Amino acid sequence: MKINEVVRLDIRNSVLCWLATVDDQGTPNVTPKEIFTSYGDDRVVIADIASSGSVRNVQAQPKVCVSFVDVFRQRGFKLTGRAKIVQQQDPSFLELGAELLRMAGADFPIRNIICVEVEQVARI
Ligand SMILES: Cc1cc2nc3c(=O)[nH]c(=O)nc-3n(C[C@H](O)[C@H](O)[C@H](O)COP(=O)(O)O)c2cc1C
Repeated sequence: MKINEVVRLDIRNSVLCWLATVDDQGTPNVTPKEIFTSYGDDRVVIADIASSGSVRNVQAQPKVCVSFVDVFRQRGFKLTGRAKIVQQQDPSFLELGAELLRMAGADFPIRNIICVEVEQVARI
């Protein structure tokens, strides 16, 4: 188990996460994503609403880092792992993205799900 209740608590209480990716040249990219949550005990799912750069990077290089902090408690984690892009037509899209779709609502269509299989968890 990579994601336990302690990690889940900080995810719930973090307004957003920061997703770090790299392109095929190793150039880093870090951007905020508000629509994210855990899925099961080893995955984090992030909504691609306006994140073409992150999606492109993940397709070129799946290694990513996701960090988040509950600013009021000053507690958070950084999670490293491998991401894949789950497209709308993928049979698992609705199940993987159920909570993301609820969070985003109708005003923010989710183009893809950035699904991170977590390999390492570290306290910030
Ligand atoms: C507070 C905040 C929250 C955001 N949340 C999301 C999000 O959940 N999903 C998303 O795709 N973009 C989100 N964005 C927009 C992306 O961060 C922004 O479009 C960024 O430039 C994408 O960079 P990328 O294309 O390199 O991934 C958010 C932006 C801000 C300022």
